Amino acid sequence: MGQTIKVGLMGLGIVGTAFVQALSQYQSDEHLFSEKIIEVKKILVRHPERHPDIRSRLTTNARDILDDPEISVVVELMGGMEPARSLILEALKGGKAVMTANKEVVAQAGREIWEASRKARAAFYFEGAVGAGIPVIQGMRRGLTGNRVQSIAGVLNGTTNYILTRMTQEGLGFSEALREAQHQGYAEADPTDDIAGYDARRKIAILATVGFNTWVSPEDIQVDGIAGITQDDIAYGLSQGWVLKLIATARRQHDTMNIAVRPTFLPHNHPVAHVSGAYNAIWIEAEPVGNVMYYGMGAGGKPTASAILSDVLQSVRDLNGPYQEFWSIGRHPKLDASGNIRGMSYWRLEVVDRPGTLAQVADQLAKHGLSLRSVYQKPLLGGHALLFLVHHKCAEHLWRTAWTSIAQLPVVEHVGSPVAIWESEQEHSDH
Ligand SMILES: NC(=O)c1ccc[n+]([C@@H]2O[C@H](COP(=O)([O-])OP(=O)(O)OC[C@H]3O[C@@H](n4cnc5c(N)ncnc54)[C@H](OP(=O)(O)O)[C@@H]3O)[C@@H](O)[C@H]2O)c1
Repeated sequence: MGQTIKVGLMGLGIVGTAFVQALSQYQSDEHLFSEKIIEVKKILVRHPERHPDIRSRLTTNARDILDDPEISVVVELMGGMEPARSLILEALKGGKAVMTANKEVVAQAGREIWEASRKARAAFYFEGAVGAGIPVIQGMRRGLTGNRVQSIAGVLNGTTNYILTRMTQEGLGFSEALREAQHQGYAEADPTDDIAGYDARRKIAILATVGFNTWVSPEDIQVDGIAGITQDDIAYGLSQGWVLKLIATARRQHDTMNIAVRPTFLPHNHPVAHVSGAYNAIWIEAEPVGNVMYYGMGAGGKPTASAILSDVLQSVRDLNGPYQEFWSIGRHPKLDASGNIRGMSYWRLEVVDRPGTLAQVADQLAKHGLSLRSVYQKPLLGGHALLFLVHHKCAEHLWRTAWTSIAQLPVVEHVGSPVAIWESEQEHSDH
């Protein structure tokens, strides 16, 4: 009989249930579990009556897990900041290894949790917090050890990717695609967190923290969501050979890094442009490996349970050896929030279609030092027109100011959300 590792599980929802099921299903595989028996001893929930089949293991009191000396591993799958954060900290202080898929807690309180983990010499793993079962955290920390990561970019939110995919492939409008995503269970009743890009922002903060060995706070990251994207933007992109995705990017430049979440046009033949529906992908450029892409289902009980299972097994292996510092935080690179990052972007303007309109727009661009790469006009009914405009590379603070002043021109009825242009498309665009 092998050694029994006792686990305290906090949360028995979609992921918690899939984790318990996966554990019992694969427990008999000696190859996978190397003669260790992993037993979920206690499970914290709020409503035990919802789980009559395993009532004897349920508790509504977290102390039953935290104060049990037999429990050496805690799996937190409740979600949200509190009480998850406090319970994780307490478990670590008590010397228990902790696993979580909670991106909110990792992105917001990760630094404090990491400190507690280091002090107590107790492991803290969070593979499921980004990309569900896609092994990107372990992939970077172990598989790419020794590489210098230059950039991390990806589709990190399945809901927005589903919406944009349906808009691109079926020609749906934004509201129609959102309703469909809600109907299919991909989007919450209140989809703000996904649509505004906040979920992707937390995930890129976690990836940048791990990939660049530095602390990144999500609140410091510039974010533009997809609520303002229309079928006109999608169609314009396709006419240029571009596909629109919500892309989270973290790029290192010497001792600084720039991070953003923005709707982005990618060349249609780029591997990330083919990531459809609720799938996620993370594209990493590193030296000496070159380009690597991690791809898979970005949500769901089973994929996330896979990440938790892998973390638990990894921590069980660690229990027998010396404590290994997993997440080290250095002082560099630092986030560059100066707005000096150079890039190209696309804007859609609805304007009054009369002589001089284009000249007024061009005048504002010139005032802010922007030069046009291309402009295309589409007539609309009622004396209006759409202008699709792409400017050459310039500092972000310049184009953001120009965008705001153009939006205030009397001849401009509406300005759509700016869309970034993927890095490789920007070559030779410096003016
Ligand atoms: N679902 C996914 O596809 C997915 C993917 C990646 C990561 N994640 C992350 O995984 C975590 C769990 O997600 P989920 O979808 O499984 O959530 P869920 O279905 O809402 O389940 C949450 C569970 O936690 C329990 N719980 C919540 N607050 C509690 C509290 N204060 N005290 C005790 N128990 C509490 C709930 O108990 P009751 O039911 O009794 O109220 C429920 O069993 C979240 O951090 C989420 O962001 C989820």
